[in-house]
Amino acid sequence: MQINIFQSSKALHQAIANKIIQSVKTKPGSVLGLSTGSSPVETYTLLGRDHKENGTDYHRIVTFNLDEYVGLKGSHQQSYRYFMNIHLFNQLNIPLEQTHVPIGVGDLESNCEEYERQIQAAGGIDLQLLGIGINGHIGFNEPGTSFESSTHVAPLLKETIEANGRFFETTEEVPTKAVTMGIKTIMETREIILLAYGSHKAAAVRDMVNGPVTEAVPASILQKHAHVTLYLDEEAAALLQ
Ligand code: F6R
Repeated sequence: MQINIFQSSKALHQAIANKIIQSVKTKPGSVLGLSTGSSPVETYTLLGRDHKENGTDYHRIVTFNLDEYVGLKGSHQQSYRYFMNIHLFNQLNIPLEQTHVPIGVGDLESNCEEYERQIQAAGGIDLQLLGIGINGHIGFNEPGTSFESSTHVAPLLKETIEANGRFFETTEEVPTKAVTMGIKTIMETREIILLAYGSHKAAAVRDMVNGPVTEAVPASILQKHAHVTLYLDEEAAALLQ
């Protein structure tokens, strides 16, 4: 694992945006894996600004998001499809039909199989952006998820439901399940960049980097990936040995 530590979250977001822009320019038909949550919002703003100011071209880019809540249609304001359209896709010249977010309604089992098939048909993911949960989850692969998992329906743990609750008006509205790329799906991507900032992520970052590789800490599997770079601020990196 390569570890980059930044003094400010601003510098961190700029570095990740630069990395993505460079990939898009080097390979205009890149397949990007994307994440949601609060971590990448500023990065996406920078990508939108760069597209507007410098014309970086996304018309051949294909994207696959990590996850989507079960029960929310793409038109729901808290769905990850909606989030991606607002924060990124609508800011770029990427045709929406080239953007993929798992579908959390309908026949979920067949949606999961179809998602894996679409990733394969696109030639696999070149560059995957990840965040990390405070319990070490990646995507919505909670502690205990099999390292052999492909895209699947995952129950969310109490701490994740509580953490996500900040985006919903009442606790009852917070989805308790998600469709997520599996650990195996994530490990098959060619290159991974993971961003984490803030002291609340420090223990998860330490366990991911310095702890044993164990299904109890899903992100620890990244120690076995050949091409991972962590983008951390000093607070998230504070417990690293
Ligand atoms: C979101 C995702 C999650 C988040 C993680 C961190 O698509 O896959 O694993 O990356 O929960 O969320 P934030 O960035 O909100 O702290």
